[in-house]
Amino acid sequence: MLAGRTLASMFYISVLWIFVATAQDFTPSSSWRKPTITISPEQRENIASAALEEAIDHLNSAAQFDGESYGSAGALYSQMAEFDLLFNQTKYRDQLKSYFPLAEQARSSFLDEFVYGYAATKAYVAYKDEEFLTYAEISWNSGNEYTLSDDNVASQSMPFKNFPISSSCQGISMAGGTFHSTDPNDATLVGLGTGSFLILSAALYEATNNQTYLEAANKSLNFIHAHLYNVQNVVQDQISAMQNASCSTSNTIFSYNAGLMIEGMAILASITNDTSTQQLLESTVSAALSNDIWQGQDGVLRTGDAKLVNALMAVYNHNTISSAMQNYVKDYLGVQYNAVIEMATENNSNIYGSSWIGPPSSKFDSFNQTQALGVLIGAISLTNDTIPNSSPTSSPASPSATNIPPGPKPQSKSGIIIGSILGSLAFVVFLGCMIWFFLKRKHHNQRDVQCSPFGLDSDQDLQVQTQLPLSQAASSIPAIHSHLKTQTTAMSQSTPSQPSLSQQHARKGHQTTDSSGLLHLSGPSVLLSQPHLDTMIPLPMQVNNQETSGQLERNIQRGNPGNNMTTAELVQMLNERLQPGQWTDDEQPPEYPESSSGR
Ligand SMILES: *[C@@H]1O[C@H](CO)[C@@H](O)[C@H](O)[C@H]1NC(C)=O
Ligand SMILES: *[C@@H]1O[C@H](CO)[C@@H](O)[C@H](O)[C@H]1NC(C)=O
Ligand SMILES: *[C@@H]1O[C@H](CO)[C@@H](O)[C@H](O)[C@H]1NC(C)=O
Ligand SMILES: *[C@@H]1O[C@H](CO)[C@@H](O)[C@H](O)[C@H]1NC(C)=O
Ligand SMILES: *[C@@H]1O[C@H](CO)[C@@H](O)[C@H](O)[C@H]1NC(C)=O
Ligand SMILES: *[C@@H]1O[C@H](CO)[C@@H](O)[C@H](O)[C@H]1NC(C)=O
Ligand SMILES: *[C@@H]1O[C@H](CO)[C@@H](O)[C@H](O)[C@H]1NC(C)=O
Ligand SMILES: *[C@@H]1O[C@H](CO)[C@@H](O)[C@H](O)[C@H]1NC(C)=O
Repeated sequence: MLAGRTLASMFYISVLWIFVATAQDFTPSSSWRKPTITISPEQRENIASAALEEAIDHLNSAAQFDGESYGSAGALYSQMAEFDLLFNQTKYRDQLKSYFPLAEQARSSFLDEFVYGYAATKAYVAYKDEEFLTYAEISWNSGNEYTLSDDNVASQSMPFKNFPISSSCQGISMAGGTFHSTDPNDATLVGLGTGSFLILSAALYEATNNQTYLEAANKSLNFIHAHLYNVQNVVQDQISAMQNASCSTSNTIFSYNAGLMIEGMAILASITNDTSTQQLLESTVSAALSNDIWQGQDGVLRTGDAKLVNALMAVYNHNTISSAMQNYVKDYLGVQYNAVIEMATENNSNIYGSSWIGPPSSKFDSFNQTQALGVLIGAISLTNDTIPNSSPTSSPASPSATNIPPGPKPQSKSGIIIGSILGSLAFVVFLGCMIWFFLKRKHHNQRDVQCSPFGLDSDQDLQVQTQLPLSQAASSIPAIHSHLKTQTTAMSQSTPSQPSLSQQHARKGHQTTDSSGLLHLSGPSVLLSQPHLDTMIPLPMQVNNQETSGQLERNIQRGNPGNNMTTAELVQMLNERLQPGQWTDDEQPPEYPESSSGR
């Protein structure tokens, strides 16, 4: 029995290893829907322009969208500047010049929406007008005030926050984390806050060469890599900075968190030529585009995400990666583009829904529209040609173990290395055991067979009993599978009583400081550690489309637990088997702070 289980476990580890090893093969999947853009750049320009005008028409006299979150308008401003930048024109300059003061009136120093600073930086680059730079600096300074500095970490305190700060987690300083909520009691350092501040700093450095911004961007990047990455290089949503919260993290993942990190790295890597940043960038892009959490087999993002798309455009345009990966990214963007124009809109309405697989929506929504605009504008400059193999590293990246830079993430780094080594080892052992087992079985007919990883008669400690006929071991797979399915169903059924993230967002003024929803990840020594298992599990969350306010980041990524066992399930099962009792099936989506309350 034990032996059968071990055998089965080894099999899963081998499968997992194969998955990890192939995850960085930058060959576009053959199941991707329409990667080639067949319409001309001129047509693309017209489509984007019409969608942009549609959105601008909906701005009110305060240059905001009625009843929508404050961040939505900022996202549109950056797209207007981006559009002009693309065509070397000044069509929207005067409009933007009037918008920024209005937006700052609505909220002093654009507090907690760094997208305004990012938009102002784009406008500064597009129009070379110092006024925009001033707005960008105002926004950056407000972000900086909510970012943990070395001093804050040393003194374990922070202005505007009412609790003692953790100075480090897993031995790594918390400096560089940005709070996205101005509530003095809200202790979560979220990917959205830190990532937005990262791309603002990176864009400002690119625009001004001011070293202060490079240092800030580097700090944000190091923080995200150290504290928010899981072992699969997917960016998790948040970590608590409260001293007594034991560094609790949320393993929830959203495509936009990956997007923000990718864009920051694409900009920084191109400036510093730092190979470890480039390698981390490749691993992160690979992880973001090959998972089945926010995109289907067809490659289409289930809920549109301009941040991920912008990030991939930054990767494409900054040209710091291998041509294989550049072509991969281009194809992925082509998939999104074709999906958006074919499935997210209808009747030449110039109105786009947030579901990029349809059905189209007939009602304008600023969130929905700006997500689509990300790809409508971005795809204009995509070439139709395959980029030739001329870049520095033109071969597909090697397995992920070698792709992790010497970054400050012992947990994920060791996790992957251990995973890979263990995987390869297990695969060899598995094959060896099978061959040995069958040989022995043939000769001695069901006598106990021993098999060890380092030779058939070596070290007793490492010996593994293989008493189960292979057929029996194999037959335990469906049993586990069905167990898993029940579990998944149980999780899904618990959903209705749980507020979705968007509901929590919409609950203005309601602060969720209860940390019980946060999951504490186990320490760095866990083999194939927890995050592996947790994060790939599609979280059962509802998408509530009824909401029309407080929905800055509504792109709740809905998992798609199908009937076939996914890698996530496989991995979860493996974890259960290796660490019995560690997996809990009543994990709930974490509480999410309402960032815009109280003002
Ligand atoms: C791009 O290439 C595809 C096939 O290779 C072709 O069908 C399409 O017309 C091309 N598009 C443009 C804009 O040249
Ligand atoms: C952009 O336009 C300006 C003036 O219209 C011109 O001087 C400049 O050379 C153009 N730049 C590019 C890259 O086309
Ligand atoms: C942690 O400390 C804060 C105040 O500093 C308190 O409100 C909170 O209840 C504490 N949490 C736990 C789990 O002890
Ligand atoms: C660099 O940016 C920082 C932050 O905005 C500012 O305080 C500093 O004066 C700038 N330095 C230069 C040389 O412009
Ligand atoms: C970025 O941070 C890393 C790790 O702390 C450090 O080694 C590197 O010198 C920094 N780079 C810059 C440009 O500040
Ligand atoms: C990075 O590489 C580019 C092109 O290879 C080069 O132009 C640039 O000067 C390099 N930057 C640094 C900081 O080395
Ligand atoms: C936004 O898009 C979603 C999905 O396409 C759609 O269900 C929703 O109704 C749209 N929002 C509005 C206000 O129409
Ligand atoms: C498109 O037009 C058809 C026919 O008038 C209508 O039934 C459908 O609802 C329209 N779709 C949208 C998204 O407006």
